[in-house]
Amino acid sequence: MNAIDVIRAKRDGAELSDDQIDYFVDAYTRAEIADEQAAALLMAIVWRGMSPAELSRWTAAMIASGERLDLSPIARPTADKHSTGGVGDKVSLVLAPVAAACGIADPMLSGRGLGHTGGTLDKLEAIPGFRVDLARDEMLDCLGRVGCVICAAGPGLTPADRKLYALRDVTGTVESIPLIASSIMSKKIAEGTDALVLDVKVGSGAFLPDISSARALAETMVALGTDHGVKTSALLTSMDTPLGRAAGNALEVAESVATLSGSGPEDLVEVTLALAREMLELTGLSADPAERLSDGSAARAFRNMVTAQGGDPDATLPEAPERAEVRARSSGVLQRLDARAVGVAAWRLGAGRARKEDPVNAGAGVVCLHKPGNEISEGEPILELHAEDPARFPSACAALEGAFDIGTEPPEPVPVILERIA
Ligand code: URA
Repeated sequence: MNAIDVIRAKRDGAELSDDQIDYFVDAYTRAEIADEQAAALLMAIVWRGMSPAELSRWTAAMIASGERLDLSPIARPTADKHSTGGVGDKVSLVLAPVAAACGIADPMLSGRGLGHTGGTLDKLEAIPGFRVDLARDEMLDCLGRVGCVICAAGPGLTPADRKLYALRDVTGTVESIPLIASSIMSKKIAEGTDALVLDVKVGSGAFLPDISSARALAETMVALGTDHGVKTSALLTSMDTPLGRAAGNALEVAESVATLSGSGPEDLVEVTLALAREMLELTGLSADPAERLSDGSAARAFRNMVTAQGGDPDATLPEAPERAEVRARSSGVLQRLDARAVGVAAWRLGAGRARKEDPVNAGAGVVCLHKPGNEISEGEPILELHAEDPARFPSACAALEGAFDIGTEPPEPVPVILERIA
C-alpha cells in the first residue's frame, strides 16, 4: 500500500477500500505519510466526497488512532452535547449542570474558540482558578461525583483529528461535510458517551449559514453516531441573532450563572431545555429539566463542578474597564440583529483569537441591550461594547455597521428550534 495510490484513487472518483483508509489514517498519524500527501487526499475528498461506508470507516480509523475513554466506572447513564458553534452560545455552561441535576453524567470535552465564535474552555477560564486541563482520573472523579465535567480532550484522544484538523485549517479543506462530520463525531465517540445530542446552528452567525447544508451535516453526524453504537439525535437551531444577550467570555459566564439562577434569557433557556430533553430521551431517564433549573439543583451542580475543577464559584469575574455604546439612529422596532457582526465585534474587542496560540481577553465582548422585537427610541443604546483598550472600539464599531435594522412593524417571529433529526 502506498499513499500515492490512495490519493490517485480518490482523485479519480473511486471508493476507497477499508484497508486503504486504515492505512492512510494510521500512517499519517504516525508521520509516515507527509503533510502534503494528506493535504492532497483531503482536497480530493472535498471534491469527490465520501460514500457512507467510506465515511464510517474513515471515522472509525480516526477513533482508532487514539484511545476511546472507558466510562463504565460511572454509575449514571452518560450523555453529551456538541454544538457546531454560534455567537453567544453558552449553552454548554448551563446544559451540563442541568443534565447532571437530571441524573445524567455529562463528560463534556470541549474546545477553544477560533474566529467569530467563542470556545467553551475560554469562557470557563474566565472563572478565577478554573482548570480545563485535567488528568483522566481527575476528569472521571469530577464526572462521578458531580455528574458533569467540562474540560479539554487529552492528547491521547483522536490524534489523527488533531493533525488533520490543523492541516485542513491551512489548506482550504475545512468546508466538506464528510470531513467536518468525521472530525466532530470521532472526538465525541472517542469520549465514550452512551448518547449524544447535536446542536447544529443555522443562520448568519453559524458555521453553515443555510438550512440545507446544516441538515445534511446533521443527518450525516446522526448516522455516524448510530453506526458507532452511540444513540444520537440533532436539533437544528437558529443562529441569525446572538443567543442570549452576551458575547464574550466572562460576560457569557455571568449570563450562564444568571440563567442557572432562574433569570436567563428566553432563547437560551429554550435551546438548553430542548437539548436537555433530547439527552433524557436518549438515555431513557425521566426528569423535568425546567424544574431542575428553577429549583436550584442545576445551579448547585454548576458550583460543584467549578469547585471540583479548581475554580472559585464566588469569585468576582473579570470586567473590562472600557465601555462604548452603539445607539439607535431612529425610533421603532428592532427588526434584526446580526449574529455574525456581533461575533466579529466581540472578537475584535479581544474576546476571540486569530491564531490558535493567541491569548483571549476574559472581560471583552458585546452585550446586546435589545433583541429583535424590542421597541427602541432614537438615541437609545442597543449594544454595549466592553474592552481592555479603547483603541479596539473603532474596528469593533466598523464590524457593527449595518448589523441591525429598525422598522415600524414587529418582525416575523423566528422559531429558535427549527428541526429535529433522529
Ligand atoms: N469542528 C470540528 O471539530 N471539526 C471540524 O471539522 C469543524 C468544526
